[in-house]
Amino acid sequence: MGTRLAADLATHGIPLRLLDRRPADARPPAGVEFVRADLRDLDATEKAAAGISAIVHLAGITQEGPFADMVEHNITGAHHVLEAVRRQRVPRVVLASSHHVTGLNPVDGPAPLAPDSFYAVSKVTAEALGHLYAHKTDVQVVAVRIGSYRDRPTEPRHRATWLSPRDATALLYSAATRPLTGPFLTVYGTSGNRESWWPRTGWNALGYQPSDSADQHPGSGPLADRFMGGAFADDDLPT
Ligand SMILES: NC(=O)c1ccc[n+]([C@@H]2O[C@H](COP(=O)([O-])OP(=O)(O)OC[C@H]3O[C@@H](n4cnc5c(N)ncnc54)[C@H](O)[C@@H]3O)[C@@H](O)[C@H]2O)c1
Repeated sequence: MGTRLAADLATHGIPLRLLDRRPADARPPAGVEFVRADLRDLDATEKAAAGISAIVHLAGITQEGPFADMVEHNITGAHHVLEAVRRQRVPRVVLASSHHVTGLNPVDGPAPLAPDSFYAVSKVTAEALGHLYAHKTDVQVVAVRIGSYRDRPTEPRHRATWLSPRDATALLYSAATRPLTGPFLTVYGTSGNRESWWPRTGWNALGYQPSDSADQHPGSGPLADRFMGGAFADDDLPT
């Protein structure tokens, strides 16, 4: 997601500094700086945050896995981003949360917090940290509960959850730059799917108007999932 976002924003001449613990797959576009650093290292994270006007925090473990890994990369990682932001006075942070924070809800009901995995618990915690820092420091935080980021929908539940790459760029850029009145905002990140399970609360505040919809990709079959989190909700906890 970060690779595509950076490529899209770079075409508009927006200056960017990318961070990842792994080397970049390809040479970054012109005007884009790449910093190889690990979010578990607070000093390196703070150094990378210097002089930045907004951080889109996407890095972390993105699949279910051992709880200790979630604590290290996703919870401590989010804490270090927010602490770096406080120290470097970065005014805005976008946190990549996940629809899995509400993944244990039945697909035909409302969606209160109900994380479906250790991964989702790490995202709930990152949202909570974002809320805390937004209220106790000067940073504004937008938590985006991303649906299913794919080039196109590939399974029935994507009729509700799909987020297209160009909509992701529009949403994340708005979340990073749009003037906001309050300190903290949570939004769901999907395309304009007619069958979405989640409210569009916050989209207007961000000026987010999706260009795509899973409705443009008919024929993916009947929904088999019991829970919003799909397989994440059905799988056993890792040991
Ligand atoms: N792809 C989706 O459908 C989806 C859905 C919901 C939420 N999200 C969230 O969006 C974000 C981006 O997802 P993605 O699919 O692009 O993930 P990805 O796995 O492609 O990219 C994550 C990147 O984070 C880096 N990383 C991991 N731990 C790190 C650390 N400690 N320090 C520095 N870098 C580290 C990895 O090297 C990797 O390049 C993630 O936070 C993910 O949880 C994605």
